[in-house]
Amino acid sequence: MENSMTLPLSPLYRRINSTRTLPRQNFYTLALNGEYAHRAFDEERAPLNKGKWRSEVFQAEEARVLDLEIGTGTGTFFAHQAIKNPERLLVGIELKYKPLIQSIRRALTAGANNAAACRFHAFNLDQLFATEELNDIYIHFPDPWVTPRKPQNRTVNAELLKIMHGLQRPGSRLYFKTDSREYFLWALEEIKRTPYEVAFMTLNLHQSEKSTENFVTGFERIFISQGIEINYLELIRK
Ligand SMILES: C[S@@+](CC[C@H](N)C(=O)[O-])C[C@H]1O[C@@H](n2cnc3c(N)ncnc32)[C@H](O)[C@@H]1O
Repeated sequence: MENSMTLPLSPLYRRINSTRTLPRQNFYTLALNGEYAHRAFDEERAPLNKGKWRSEVFQAEEARVLDLEIGTGTGTFFAHQAIKNPERLLVGIELKYKPLIQSIRRALTAGANNAAACRFHAFNLDQLFATEELNDIYIHFPDPWVTPRKPQNRTVNAELLKIMHGLQRPGSRLYFKTDSREYFLWALEEIKRTPYEVAFMTLNLHQSEKSTENFVTGFERIFISQGIEINYLELIRK
């Protein structure tokens, strides 16, 4: 088993501040390592679960499905997904403390025992999961980084996609929704440099065949109210 602490860092790696040594703690930072510590992990405790999410965090068999949501926000999809699919396991990552705690609290309050949340940077995913540890990945409305124009910060980029591909089990899917047409078209070009295959793609999710099965996330509701068309794709990890 790989030891996350001794792994070389990928060129994408982003250092984030340590929760434990924050000069000022608040309700959310304290809850992360207190009330919710059994199901929420800060950036130091989270990678200790690498390769052991099923066996140690969820005490589940290796065959059990383990999905990931990147950027849970306040966790409406996160909690819905966990409750609707009790046979699947779900890990959510989020950078900000308040939405992170809202996400895990929402899931636990709804009765989910198959969900865990981490304060973690998406670019560091190879520190969090072992090769082929994951099934499906959900990326809903990631920050589009259009102003200022900094596409190197976008989550759906070729280098991170190649890493995510390696972390997924064959046959898994990656789901991506964004309000930003610019980001979406840019991502389609990035995907061509990865082993993923596009299984479904639309520039208007709510007018597509996928609209009935779609769960409207917190940010999606806002974009819909503004009349913005939602770009959506599904990738297959062969
Ligand atoms: C626009 S919100 C979307 C939230 C939610 N997915 C939704 O659809 O309502 C993007 C979220 O991703 C989080 N985020 C941004 N960059 C991240 C990163 N590098 N790693 C993890 N989370 C990130 C933000 O803190 C924010 O909560």
